[in-house]
Amino acid sequence: MPSTPDALPVVIIGAGLAGLTVALHAAEQRPVVVLAKRHLDEGATAWAQGGIVGVLGSDDSIDSHVRDTQQAGAGLVDEGAARFIAERSAGAIEWLVKQGVAFSPDPSGPLGLHLTREGGHTVRRIAHAADATGRAILEALLDAAKRHPNIRLHEQWMAVDVITSRHLHREELPRCYGVYALDIGAQRVETLPASAVVLATGGVGKVYRYTSNPDTATGDGIAMAWRAGCRVANMEFIQFHPTCLYHPEERSFLITEALRGEGAQLRLPDGTRFMAAHDERLELAPRDIVARAIDFEMKKHGLDHVWLDATHLGESFLKEHFPTIHARCLALGIDITRQPIPVVPAAHYTCGGVVTDLRGRTDLPGLYAVGETTYTGLHGANRLASNSLLECVVLGRTCAAQLLAQGPAALAVLPAWDESQVENADEQVVISHNWDEVRLLMWNYVGIVRTTKRLERALARIKLLRSEIDEYYAAFRVSRDLLELRNLVECAELIVRSALLRHESRGLHFSRDFPEALPVSFPSVLVRAARGRKLKPLGLSG
Ligand code: FAD
Ligand code: SIN
Repeated sequence: MPSTPDALPVVIIGAGLAGLTVALHAAEQRPVVVLAKRHLDEGATAWAQGGIVGVLGSDDSIDSHVRDTQQAGAGLVDEGAARFIAERSAGAIEWLVKQGVAFSPDPSGPLGLHLTREGGHTVRRIAHAADATGRAILEALLDAAKRHPNIRLHEQWMAVDVITSRHLHREELPRCYGVYALDIGAQRVETLPASAVVLATGGVGKVYRYTSNPDTATGDGIAMAWRAGCRVANMEFIQFHPTCLYHPEERSFLITEALRGEGAQLRLPDGTRFMAAHDERLELAPRDIVARAIDFEMKKHGLDHVWLDATHLGESFLKEHFPTIHARCLALGIDITRQPIPVVPAAHYTCGGVVTDLRGRTDLPGLYAVGETTYTGLHGANRLASNSLLECVVLGRTCAAQLLAQGPAALAVLPAWDESQVENADEQVVISHNWDEVRLLMWNYVGIVRTTKRLERALARIKLLRSEIDEYYAAFRVSRDLLELRNLVECAELIVRSALLRHESRGLHFSRDFPEALPVSFPSVLVRAARGRKLKPLGLSG
């Protein structure tokens, strides 16, 4: 263990855009350790397609972007957060370019970049690298992090829980001191002391049976922060992306909204366009509206999917701007230059999460959070497309500045992970069965359209699952599957409890029992009582 507080590293849990942005900035002054529970390039960042918002064009303005964000967010966006982030968007794009990100060029565009458009945006303001923006960003940042002398990257290391004053029996001085992390290769839980811990673990899309998300998205950061006593907000607002590829044998694959931004149209099997019946902005209405419209049409006509038709955009345009989607669909026998694409909505983005300020501070000193794992006030009741990558870069930078300014904590001797009461698991079926059960019940009972009855049914089942998993966790050595399941079920409960608290329909939360939006509405904030699991809702002003 290092002998001075200054030598203690900043431990960052997550190697996506949020984690790497914090790492590259914090490493200017401190040693940094980054943990990734799978390979370094696995996470939502690598899968991002459409792009990242940059308020760059002469036809654009900060006010316009803030308005679009608020409009999509259905009255729950914190204007201060939206403005703070929009004002720093040009700087964020410039920083990424400096790191070597090769955005699609346009010699006549601002900064020499091509800007595309997505649903809810009133102008073209999305910088992109064809239809594989996230991969271009991640490759550049990982390359920079691997070369940085102050950064150590550990893949196949999974954070189990953050170490707090409770572990040190010093509850009167709440603070985060480090992390317990499972070295998956060695199958051993290590104690990692830290001057600061950053949760950058992404969202919780995997809690649904059908999702655009990668396997990493099991809500670990949200669950860890909640267990450490931090507030969690707006968990009912799970964004369903309207257009994921429908294929009975393939996992969900996103068909970027930029395709609709460039003119692709949604159709029924007989070729009829249907969006006019739902919103005057047609295919470019915000995501909550388009996803609900598709859900409605599928149920009305008894369909497995609807069609997204891009054939009129032309072969050369589609191949140049959407090469990944073109190739992926072609491999499945769908030529998007000649045929419409079968699409369905799937769980895509977690708008709520760990409550932080605009510098990544959580409720627990020494514990920070950035990226999809957080609630910052930016996304409100429905995230505007391509605002997520932007949030990671802007708040990753302010978080690093904050934790450097804060100074490290005093040294403490941290208790080692205690395995004295556990043994090797006797059977895996409990884990695999409960994984499937939680994902299916969330899909069926807590999906795009909700009712109080279904939410109550979901909660009752989640409670049973929780007790079974807690029992298993207490008795057996931990594995990645078990830890992820424990976190998934924790987050499922937070989603359902938040949904039950909202007696209205707004943004991504639509309830048949409360179909109208209330005239005044607040974020739903869950607070964990010091003892037991009592939750209480609070208003949050931002
Ligand atoms: P991630 O990139 O998901 O990274 C999470 C990291 O945490 C991973 O390294 C993971 O291994 C690690 N991790 C998780 N739990 C643990 C643990 N317990 N221990 C150790 N490591 C852990 N947004 C946009 O703005 N524009 C887009 O075009 C766009 N397209 C998207 C397309 C798809 C298919 C998807 C799924 C999302 C898209 N999004 C887009 C959303 C955006 O990609 C994500 O919100 C963003 O990348 C999240 O970044 P992050 O760093 O917070 O998390
Ligand atoms: C997409 O490309 O459609 C996803 C964009 C986003 O989630 O912001």
